[in-house]
Amino acid sequence: MIIRIKQFFRGVFQRVGNDEYKFIKKYLDSYELDLFNKLTSYEKIHAYTVAKKISDKLINQGYKDNIDRDRLIKAALLHDIGKIECAMNIIEKSIIVILDKFFRNKLKKSKSKKINIYYNHAEVGYNILLNKEYSEEFLNIIKFHHCDNVEAANKEEIQLLKQVDSQT
Ligand SMILES: [Fe+2]
Ligand SMILES: [Fe+2]
Repeated sequence: MIIRIKQFFRGVFQRVGNDEYKFIKKYLDSYELDLFNKLTSYEKIHAYTVAKKISDKLINQGYKDNIDRDRLIKAALLHDIGKIECAMNIIEKSIIVILDKFFRNKLKKSKSKKINIYYNHAEVGYNILLNKEYSEEFLNIIKFHHCDNVEAANKEEIQLLKQVDSQT
């Protein structure tokens, strides 16, 4: 719950500024930056924060052989890109997060596009990125970032993103 409250205030008060863009541009090319800029400012700051936390974590813990840092940070910046298909403002998002707590099963059957994207954005994002030639490992990070028990060659990257995402 505290994470949700933090998310809300970050979404309302924080913006992606020059310093953040400096970091983002190190990892995204112009095509990816265009996609990123289609996110709501709330989702941009979320994606930036997840990517930055992963970057700091890898610096502090030392690099691991089985983690491709640049690939993972790029994926972290784009992990919720499926949400550009149907943008939600922070109030709508907060309402869905609360409803999800109590009525998840009913909500998943809803015909509302916004609610569907909320649950399927990983798959939607994966499909958006299929337009460009990315490695299977990169695409898997986006596709499986909300899945449990993923079997992928780079599952450590997926797990690290999942862990940081759930705390951000
Ligand atoms: Fe997500
Ligand atoms: Fe996320």
